[in-house]
Amino acid sequence: MVKSLETPPVELLKPGVKAPVQETLLTPRFYTTDFDAVAKMDISAYENELRSVVDELKADYNRHHFVRDDEFKQCWDHIEGEKRLAFLDFLERSCTSEFSGFLLFKELSRRIKDSNPLLSEAFGYLARDEARHAGFLNKSMADFNLSLDLSYLTKNRTYTFFPPEWVIYTVYLSEKIGYWRYILVYRHMEKNPEFQFYPLFRKFESWCQDENRHGDFFKALLRSQPQLWNNWKARLWVRFFLLTVFATHTMTVFERASFYEILGIHPRKYNNQVIEETNKTAARAFPIILNTNHPYFFWFLEQCAINNQKLIELNNTKGWGVIKFFKKIPLLRNIVWYMLRLYLIKPIKVEAIRETVC
Ligand SMILES: [Fe+2]
Ligand SMILES: [Fe+2]
Repeated sequence: MVKSLETPPVELLKPGVKAPVQETLLTPRFYTTDFDAVAKMDISAYENELRSVVDELKADYNRHHFVRDDEFKQCWDHIEGEKRLAFLDFLERSCTSEFSGFLLFKELSRRIKDSNPLLSEAFGYLARDEARHAGFLNKSMADFNLSLDLSYLTKNRTYTFFPPEWVIYTVYLSEKIGYWRYILVYRHMEKNPEFQFYPLFRKFESWCQDENRHGDFFKALLRSQPQLWNNWKARLWVRFFLLTVFATHTMTVFERASFYEILGIHPRKYNNQVIEETNKTAARAFPIILNTNHPYFFWFLEQCAINNQKLIELNNTKGWGVIKFFKKIPLLRNIVWYMLRLYLIKPIKVEAIRETVC
């Protein structure tokens, strides 16, 4: 079984409002992009496909789904100790990443309103959904007498700049990996209701369909831009983003193994299944996918996670910064080395078989 790190006590910004977690490479990030470039994006060759995806978003199938029914209205003080902290950590990370999506989509929708109305409309629907998701998670946190100050986060988090191409690759992948993460937890809970300690998980089935539709929109957007999939540079970028998303997922799941064990989920099996399914799904959008059946694929990913855990343990120890710095070097070198070996595993070309996998 994978080893999990101890969950630190909750830090408060003010009474009842949780201080945001320290930003690291693995915490959900806030993004900004080149809005003018998105405004000028030529989508004419793929307009019909995009229109039909936007119509699906407009239908708003989940408008009555995010309701806190009677099951939520009770005292949750019986969930305590490590279970409570691990669950709060899950809620906070999920809320932050949903809210990060909301901010980016809202800004995109606003900035391209006149120049690219179809994309603006789509981003508006995406922002609507992510605001609902973030709000629902924040209300769940409030059941545990804590919440996130989302306007504080908006003003105080660092925004990372990604060019539009990177936004399309990474958001497509994060929506699809989000779909698999939610649906696999939902299916597990359905089969093992004794682990359903809080009603949030019951909401995941329809919720993940939102993420699926968001991913389908980004797939259509990606396919509308041939330079994002029809040349050797695009294949190298796709390989890079698949790998970084899968490595980040593995490190995060291993770091929070105890949370998955609380849910009765085997962290390693869950991680592998999420990655395998997301990789297969990505064949519908990308020209290549990774070879997850390679004998070293998951082993190398786990080596990255193990070295990452050692880095976190080192960061949590007391001591001189200089000594810590020199101790970190071999761990960082190991992560880079395993990532490089993963990158060099021959990918699977799927462009030629696209018709059969779509
Ligand atoms: Fe979402
Ligand atoms: Fe989403």
